[in-house]
Amino acid sequence: MISYIIMLIAFEGIDGSGKTTQAKKLYRYLVAKGIPVSLYREPGGTKLGEKLREIIITEEMDERTELFLFEASRSRLITEKVIKDLKKGKTVILDRFTLSTLAYQGYGKGIDLEVINEFNRFATWGIEPNLIVFIDVPVEVAIKRLKNRTRFESKEFLERVRRGFLEIVKDKRNVVIIDGAKEENTVFEEILKTLSGIFSI
Ligand code: TYD
Repeated sequence: MISYIIMLIAFEGIDGSGKTTQAKKLYRYLVAKGIPVSLYREPGGTKLGEKLREIIITEEMDERTELFLFEASRSRLITEKVIKDLKKGKTVILDRFTLSTLAYQGYGKGIDLEVINEFNRFATWGIEPNLIVFIDVPVEVAIKRLKNRTRFESKEFLERVRRGFLEIVKDKRNVVIIDGAKEENTVFEEILKTLSGIFSI
């Protein structure tokens, strides 16, 4: 009996949306169920990707240069980890993926969306998630949660990014929008409810 199907699941959302927490929760949940699963973050997830992440976070640069670095990290992750894991029959959870680039570099920083779509396709070999979990929170809620963190984007920027995410997911069929303003465990229950329709978990 097939008790699960192999999937690529991406978590997306603005900074402070709680997507990292939820991605980790799902990872631990699936591990506990005995389902072979990997979790990677973007930027990062590979040795090179983690070095690129460090550069992206610490260096000042223009948005085009930054776009290349995000895509380089993604390309390495897809080639070194994601394709291999999926071939081995593992489910892969990604903490951020291509929609983040559309939302942040496109809607947030004004880079042409068509260019980003092309770069995304190139970096991923056209691989798309089976499911994208978009965790949506009002910017005010996100900013309150981010208070103690060092990296801090402006409210206006995060508003543009959030509107971007909402615009992108509007007509995508593989996306579920989860209300991330609720309590952590309630949000996770919602995610599991969605997944149980697809996974037999
Ligand atoms: P993330 O790891 O989610 O943030 P945190 O350090 O708070 O856990 O992502 C790092 C930052 O990179 C975040 O501000 C979003 C940004 N980002 C982009 O601008 N474009 C992208 O394509 C990706 C993947 C991330």
